[in-house]
Amino acid sequence: MENRSTFATRMGGIAAAVGSAVGFGNIWRFPYITGQDGGAAFLLIYVFSVLLLGIPLMVSEFVIGRSAHSNIVTSFKKVAPGTKWHWVGILSLLVAILILGFYVVLSGWTLRYTYLAAINSMEGDDFGAFVSSPIEPLLWTIAAIVINAGILLGGVQKGIERASNIMMPVLAVILLLLVINSCFQPGFSEGMSYLFVPDWSKVTGQVWIDALGQAFFSLSCAMGILIAYGSYLGDNTKVGKTACTVAGLDTIIAIMAGIVIFPACFSFGIEPEQGSSLVFVTLPRVFLQMPGGYILGVLFFLLITLAGITSCMSIFEVPVSYLQEEWKMSRKTAVLCSSIWALGLGVVCSLSLGLLGDVTLWGDNIFDFLDHLTSRYMMPICALLISLFVGWWLDKEIIQDTITNWQNDSGWYLRPLLWIMRVFAPICIFIIFLSGLGLI
Ligand code: ALA
Repeated sequence: MENRSTFATRMGGIAAAVGSAVGFGNIWRFPYITGQDGGAAFLLIYVFSVLLLGIPLMVSEFVIGRSAHSNIVTSFKKVAPGTKWHWVGILSLLVAILILGFYVVLSGWTLRYTYLAAINSMEGDDFGAFVSSPIEPLLWTIAAIVINAGILLGGVQKGIERASNIMMPVLAVILLLLVINSCFQPGFSEGMSYLFVPDWSKVTGQVWIDALGQAFFSLSCAMGILIAYGSYLGDNTKVGKTACTVAGLDTIIAIMAGIVIFPACFSFGIEPEQGSSLVFVTLPRVFLQMPGGYILGVLFFLLITLAGITSCMSIFEVPVSYLQEEWKMSRKTAVLCSSIWALGLGVVCSLSLGLLGDVTLWGDNIFDFLDHLTSRYMMPICALLISLFVGWWLDKEIIQDTITNWQNDSGWYLRPLLWIMRVFAPICIFIIFLSGLGLI
């Protein structure tokens, strides 16, 4: 275990964690949920969830992974030996491998749209026909899995860290260009009001649970990633600072994506509340009508593809590191097994939008069911258990040593962190969870 890989540099670790956080959650999920849940009112609840629940949870997950230097399940076994807490690790692992099923399909879609944008063939594209066709989305899903597997085979430093170091700056530059372009759109001020002026009449219990689930999803919390990545952070990395940097950048990027998407919708008379097809249906149409639309289209889909890859590989890393360490597989075999799983579930998710469209679970097709099951139920439960674990069970010395880098830095936030994890987070998550279920 002492020979275990770590990120080579502090910046590399941050790039990888930001790469994991910034994904479809920011560029696909955040804009459409904000659209559905009333714009700015949702945004404020979202920012509240990130600051008071997301960041403490991120720090806690980093603490567990970094102190145990292990995968999601072994980490719990090491920091709480002889207890049943490793079941929280198993639940997080389950969240990751269920999310993987629809994430690889989405990655495939973005690859296809980047390709269509690049060959200037978006005109006349029918998104509904594409996603419901049995074969084409699967071929793109396979391409996405192969790209991820290729990066993962490079290992922690030469695969994940190197890919993040290259892709994240490119992503930032592309997003900045798109935001600048958005400022000159006719619907800019309407889009800005939509995003920044709250409409509290739209806030229901469901909006709170959506915001909480979105915060956890976007920060990569409660799905094992931060424990896995925390175990790769070098000894000189400050976990508190890293969590704040990652959460800050992730939120800024989600808001920037909103600044790109909403003015575009209002400029071209398109409803922002149309749900998950927003970025795949609306934006191609918008780009087609804009001057310079070709290059903007290519940049936008490249942006979302890069964001998707750096997140997807982090989700893959959860089962890969687990299989390597708990099942003693080589990295190659672990990547292969995880890829086969992702493909199998990806096939089911993709077909659920077409051939298997009649199969519904609690009113959702399988694709939406997995998204809702993980973000509305499993992730809040995992988060609740992790906060109770860190707040009440985990040895305080472990937490203190990890956040102070073994007494080399200040750990002023230890007490607030503990109280958030002991009382505030469990109560908030529990209440929001119940209100999301319509029970209060
Ligand atoms: N955090 C990742 C995302 O936002 C999973 O897509």
